[in-house]
Amino acid sequence: MDILIPADKIRQRVGELASQVAADYAGRPVTIVGVLTGCLMFLADLVRHLDLPLRIGLIQASSYRGERTTPGDLHIDPALLPDVRGRHILLLDDILDTGRTLAALCEHLRRVGVASLKVGVLLRKVGRQVVPFEPDYCGFEIPDAFVVGYGLDYNDEHRHLPDILILPGPSEDGETRRQGDKETRTQKEK
Ligand code: IMP
Ligand code: MG
Repeated sequence: MDILIPADKIRQRVGELASQVAADYAGRPVTIVGVLTGCLMFLADLVRHLDLPLRIGLIQASSYRGERTTPGDLHIDPALLPDVRGRHILLLDDILDTGRTLAALCEHLRRVGVASLKVGVLLRKVGRQVVPFEPDYCGFEIPDAFVVGYGLDYNDEHRHLPDILILPGPSEDGETRRQGDKETRTQKEK
């Protein structure tokens, strides 16, 4: 797989984002809420730069199912979320693609009654958003390709890779891959 963003660039950029976060919160307590599972590396690396009164919470949201790389129905599971009412929240996700996940999560957290809400994403895909959404912190803008590594997966694989890599296009065995607007389905899914 081709490397899109090497590990050292990610490390440097996460450090820069942490400086922005630290300056913005300026000693105020913050609860970082990571969107499972893709946020894991980003969250772990970011928080270790932050010298703030800090809590960590997790929330699960999934829209990509199994071997498909196209969004399916969004499911939010707040079972792992601590009581965030009245807290200052920084919601962290790996990637902003269509924007549906983060828009829905923000709505969920606002309904719960948080004191303030900011959003940080490591990656933002250019030209893919269908929901207007502006993150407060963004690591990198990337082209419209399916990427894996540094927490991002394809069918739950590749999350452990230290770089961000481009998943190759459709293979002869008919796996589902997005190609511009065209979608192909596996025989299994038909
Ligand atoms: P959205 O709701 O379309 O913005 O989708 C956001 C979620 O889709 C992210 O949290 C990822 O889990 C997943 N996703 C979107 N694009 C990619 C990608 O290129 N690689 C891996 N996961 C992706
Ligand atoms: Mg995700």
